[in-house]
Amino acid sequence: MRTDTPQTIRRADYQPLAWTVTDVDLHFALDPAATLVRSRLTLKRNPRAPAGPLVLLGDELELVSLQIDGRTPAAARITDTRIEVDLDGDTATADIVTRIAPAKNTALSGLYTSRGGFFTQCEAEGFRRITWFPDRPDAMARYTVTLEADKASYPVLLSNGNLVGHGELADGRHFARWQDPFPKPSYLFALVAADLAVNERRITTMSGREVLLQIWTETAALERTGHAMESLVRAIRWDEERFGLELDLERFMIVAVSDFNMGAMENKGLNIFNSKLLLATPDTATDVDYESIEAVVAHEYFHNWTGNRVTCRDWFQLTLKEGLTVFRDQEFTADMLAAEGGDSARAVKRIDDVRVLRAAQFPEDAGPMAHPIRPDSYQEINNFYTATVYEKGAEVIRMLQTLLGRDGFRKGMDLYFARHDGQAVTCDDFVAAMADANGRDLTQFLRWYSRPGTPRLSASGRYDAAAQTYTLTLAQRSAGAADEALLIPVAVGLLGADGRDLPLTLAGATAPGTRLLELDAAEQTWTFTGVAERPVLSLLRGFSAPVIADLDEDDATLAFRMAHDGDPFNRWDAAQRFMERTVLGLAADAAAGRPLATPEAFVAAFGALLADDALDPAFHAQALALPGESYLLERMTPADPAALRTALMHLLRDLGKRFAADWLDRHLDCRVAGDYRYHPRDVGLRALGNLCLRYLCAAGELAGFAAAERQFAQAGNMSERLGALGALVHSAAPQRDSALAAFHAHYATDTLVLDKWFALQAGAWRWDPAAAPTLARVRQLLAHPAFAATNPNKVYALLGGYFRANPGEFHSPDGHAFWAEQIVALNAINPQVAARMARALERWRSFTPALQASMRRALETVAASEGLSPDVAEIVGKALA
Ligand code: TRP
Ligand code: ZN
Repeated sequence: MRTDTPQTIRRADYQPLAWTVTDVDLHFALDPAATLVRSRLTLKRNPRAPAGPLVLLGDELELVSLQIDGRTPAAARITDTRIEVDLDGDTATADIVTRIAPAKNTALSGLYTSRGGFFTQCEAEGFRRITWFPDRPDAMARYTVTLEADKASYPVLLSNGNLVGHGELADGRHFARWQDPFPKPSYLFALVAADLAVNERRITTMSGREVLLQIWTETAALERTGHAMESLVRAIRWDEERFGLELDLERFMIVAVSDFNMGAMENKGLNIFNSKLLLATPDTATDVDYESIEAVVAHEYFHNWTGNRVTCRDWFQLTLKEGLTVFRDQEFTADMLAAEGGDSARAVKRIDDVRVLRAAQFPEDAGPMAHPIRPDSYQEINNFYTATVYEKGAEVIRMLQTLLGRDGFRKGMDLYFARHDGQAVTCDDFVAAMADANGRDLTQFLRWYSRPGTPRLSASGRYDAAAQTYTLTLAQRSAGAADEALLIPVAVGLLGADGRDLPLTLAGATAPGTRLLELDAAEQTWTFTGVAERPVLSLLRGFSAPVIADLDEDDATLAFRMAHDGDPFNRWDAAQRFMERTVLGLAADAAAGRPLATPEAFVAAFGALLADDALDPAFHAQALALPGESYLLERMTPADPAALRTALMHLLRDLGKRFAADWLDRHLDCRVAGDYRYHPRDVGLRALGNLCLRYLCAAGELAGFAAAERQFAQAGNMSERLGALGALVHSAAPQRDSALAAFHAHYATDTLVLDKWFALQAGAWRWDPAAAPTLARVRQLLAHPAFAATNPNKVYALLGGYFRANPGEFHSPDGHAFWAEQIVALNAINPQVAARMARALERWRSFTPALQASMRRALETVAASEGLSPDVAEIVGKALA
C-alpha cells in the first residue's frame, strides 16, 4: 500500500510522453509468494513531445534488475514509485526484472490470488504494481505475454489476444504464450492462471468471420454461465445492428472471479468479472441480477470499441469511455426489454436509470466530492469511478442523441471511429466528431463537461384564453456559474382537461404530443398557439436532461398528472413528487414531535393509481414504490434520518392497512405460472407481487405475513424467495428469524447467495420498537464464518448494506463510531473498498447538529489514523475541508 502524502494531479498539467513503448514482451514465472516478472520494452522517442527522460512508474515492486540496451544504466534515478533514465538516440530497449507477492495483494489491484488462482486488475493504475512501466492510458503498445506455472494447480493460462504457443516444462510446470494484435494501454492488460472450466460458443459476425466466445469459471459454477453467454451474443448482435461495430478478435473470453473490487473489467479480449455479475440460475439469482448481468456483460463488451479501440488520453477523460459505454448499455437494455415488453418496458428502464442517478449522483454532486463529468483534479483516480463520471456522463451522451437525433448521433459515432481508431483521445475529440458529422456548433454544449453540481430548471406558464396561447418561460440556474448558460434539451407536453396530450404548435409548426425545446440562455420564452383550453404542463419528459426541475404544482395538479400524464416517465415522476412531498411533510411532523396523519388527497391519488388495472405490472410496481431513502434524505434540510425513517414507516403501514384487501388481491393476480423465464412480463408481475407483500407486511397484516410465508416456502425462483423474505424481514413478523435461518440453511455453501442474506439483515429496519438496533446484528455477522473482510462482495453486502442502505439505523453515535473502526480496518486490507465505504459520511454537514458532531468525530478519528491510504485520505480530507 502507498502511504505517501496525497498529491493533487491536475488536468491542465498533461504532457505527452517523451518516450513511448511500441512493444512489450512479458514473462511471468507464477508463484503465489514470489512471482518473477521479466519485461522487455521497445522504446521510441516521441517526436511530438518535449525532450525528457524515460519515466517508469512502480508501486510495491521489488526491482531485481534494470538494463537499458543490455547494460545497467549509470545514472538512473530510482525511488519507490518512479524510475527516470536519460536516454540518447531515438530508440532503446529496456529489460526489467521485478519480484511481486500476489498472495499478499489484498488490495486486489495488480496481480493477486483468489481462491487458488491468479488474476489481474490493472485499471486504473494496477499495472505499475506488476512491473515498472509508463502506466498511463496514452502509452499504447503491442503485448506478447508468456505465462509459466505449475500445471496441476493452474491448468488454464490466459492473457489478451491469441494463443500463439503452449507446452510442457520441467518440474510439472507448463507455459502458454499469448499475443495481442491490437496496441493497447497497460490498464487493459490481463492474465488469469487457475483451475477453470469453460462454456464455449461459436458465432459468425456480420462480416462472416467465425469467432470463439468463452466463459471461464470454477467447474462447479459452469452451469450458471448460460444467461451470461446469451447476453453476450445479444450484445454482439446489437452493436452490429445499432452502431455497425463488429467483434475484432478471433476469440473473446470472460472469466469469473470471486474477489473483485468493482463489477467487471473490459481487458482486451479477456474481460474479468466479479462472479456476482456473471453467474445466474433461477434458484440463485433474482430478476434484478439477471438484468444486471445482461447489462454488465454488454457494457464490458461495448468497451471493446468505446474504450479499447479508442481509449482515453488521460484519466480525466474517463467519462469519454464510461459515460458513453453506460449510455450504450442503457440503450441496449431498453431495446432488449422493449423487444419483449414494448414501450412500457422501455419506460421502466428509463425510470430505473433515473432512480439510480437521483439516489447516487445527485447527492454526490451536492457534497464535498462534487466534480464535473470531466474532473479538473484528483488525488486518487480510483475515487473518480463515480456516479458522476458514469451515470451523469451517460446522461450527457443521451442529451447529444436527443439533440442530434438517433441518425445524427450515429453519424457522429461513425466519424469518431473513422478519425480516432487506435488512438488515445479526449472528450473534446468526441464532441467535435458529433459536431462535425452534423454540421452543428456544440461549443456551448461542452460546458456540461466542466460544470459540477446539478443544474436547476424552473418553469412558469401563462395561458391566455382569448388569444388561445400558452406562454412558457424556462429558466436555468447552476450554483456559481450564473453567466454561462448550459444548452439544455427540455422535452415538454401540454395536457388537456381530459388528460390527453394537446397538439403543440410553435412558430406555425405542429407536433402531436411532445416537443423538444432547446434552452440555451439563463431564461427563455416560447409561445404555443392554438391552445384551445387551459393546459397542464408536463415538463422534462423522459427526463431529457440531468437537472432538478423545480415545479410549483399543487396537490391536485400532481394527482392529475399521476393519473394522466401521457409520458410514462413523467407519470411516474408525478407520483414520486407527490410521495416525496407527503413523506417529507410527515418527517417534519415527526421531527417536531407532532402526530402523523397521511394527507387524504395523497391517499386518494395513491388509491386511484393502485386501482388502475390498465397499467403494465412492471410500471405499476415502479409507480407504487416510494422514492429511495437516500434520495429523500438528500431533499431534507437538515437531514434527519430518524424522523425520515419514522415517516416512511408510518406511510408504508398506513398505505398497507388502508388498501390491505387490494394488496392481497393484487398479490394473487401477480402469480406467475410455469418455469422461470427472464421476461419483462414475468419480471413485472414478480416485482408488483413482491411490492404488495412489502406493504402488507409493513402494515403488520396477518394475512400478509401468511402470504409471504407461503411464497417463501413455495418459491420457484430467487426473486420470489427473496421478495418474500425481504417483506418478512422488513416487518415485525414473528416469522422473520425462522425464515432467515431457513434461507441460510438452504444456501449455506453458496457464497454469492449468502451476500443477499448478509445485505438483507444489515438493511433491516426496526419495525419492532423493542428490538435491538441493527448494529448489534451487523457486529454479530462480522464474526460469521461466511463473512470475510478481504472479499469486497461481503463488505459491500454487510457494511455497505448498513452504512449506505440503512441510513435510519446507521446514523447514530454508535453507528458512526463503528464506521470509523471499520474504515481503519478496511484501509489496511483494501484501500479502494475502504474509500468506497468511507463515502457514507461525506455529506455530514447537511445533517442535524447532534449527528454532525458524532460524524465529525468519526471522520477525524479516521483522518488521524496511521497508514492511511491516499484513497481514504482524499475522501475524509475533502469531507473535513
Ligand atoms: N472499467 C470498468 C468498467 O466500468 C471499471 C473497473 C473495473 C474498475 N475494475 C476496476 C475501475 C477497478 C477502477 C478500479 O467497466
Ligand atoms: Zn465501464
